[in-house]
Amino acid sequence: EAKTYFSRELLVWYDEHKRDLPWRRSRNPYHIWISEIMLQQTRVDTVIPYFTRFIEKFPTVEALATAPEEEVLKSWEGLGYYSRARNLQAAAQQVVERHEGIVPNTPEEISALKGIGPYTAGAVLSIAYGVPVPAVDGNVMRVLSRYFCLEDDIAKGPTRVKMEVLAKELIPRGRASDFNQALMELGAMVCTPKSPGCLTCPVMKHCEGRMNGMELILPIKTKS
Ligand code: ADE
Repeated sequence: EAKTYFSRELLVWYDEHKRDLPWRRSRNPYHIWISEIMLQQTRVDTVIPYFTRFIEKFPTVEALATAPEEEVLKSWEGLGYYSRARNLQAAAQQVVERHEGIVPNTPEEISALKGIGPYTAGAVLSIAYGVPVPAVDGNVMRVLSRYFCLEDDIAKGPTRVKMEVLAKELIPRGRASDFNQALMELGAMVCTPKSPGCLTCPVMKHCEGRMNGMELILPIKTKS
């Protein structure tokens, strides 16, 4: 069936084509967390050197929690959106105070940390801890809306919830980390916004959006 096919072929493709990114060499929840926050509004190529330097300068949650704020902001210079850095340090302090410096591994506890929304919570839980929860961002919504030809408005809250339910169903047992990263990777490398590489797409054969000639108009998004 289309769902089983999607998950199986996507993982086969990812195993072969995944980029060697610094945060993919680690399952350290702190490293995954830093990378996901940096990647939220910034491109992968830009993030790489910042990520490496940040981890060198603040190697643990405790190091980040106790660093002078100006040092943290200095490490962020050039990435923009400085509230991300301030929230990150505040959340590191919460992790020290509430969880003895260990990034929590439950949706309730991780979501309670400053600056961690549903996407980041899902990404850290699945990638670092293997918890079978979805991690749905704009890229993932684009992939799912195209493959399943979903015409829901992705700017609407209930659409995200619907996508999260779908994305969760697609996670193969024991492979939450790879599967969620594979979805992100397909959105970044193949199922791109402007000129998607359908001819090299591992799941083109059952892509409903493409079958209907709708790959370029999906996802539907009203307010920018
Ligand atoms: N974008 C957001 N999270 C990512 C990840 N883990 N790898 C590559 N690109 C991403």
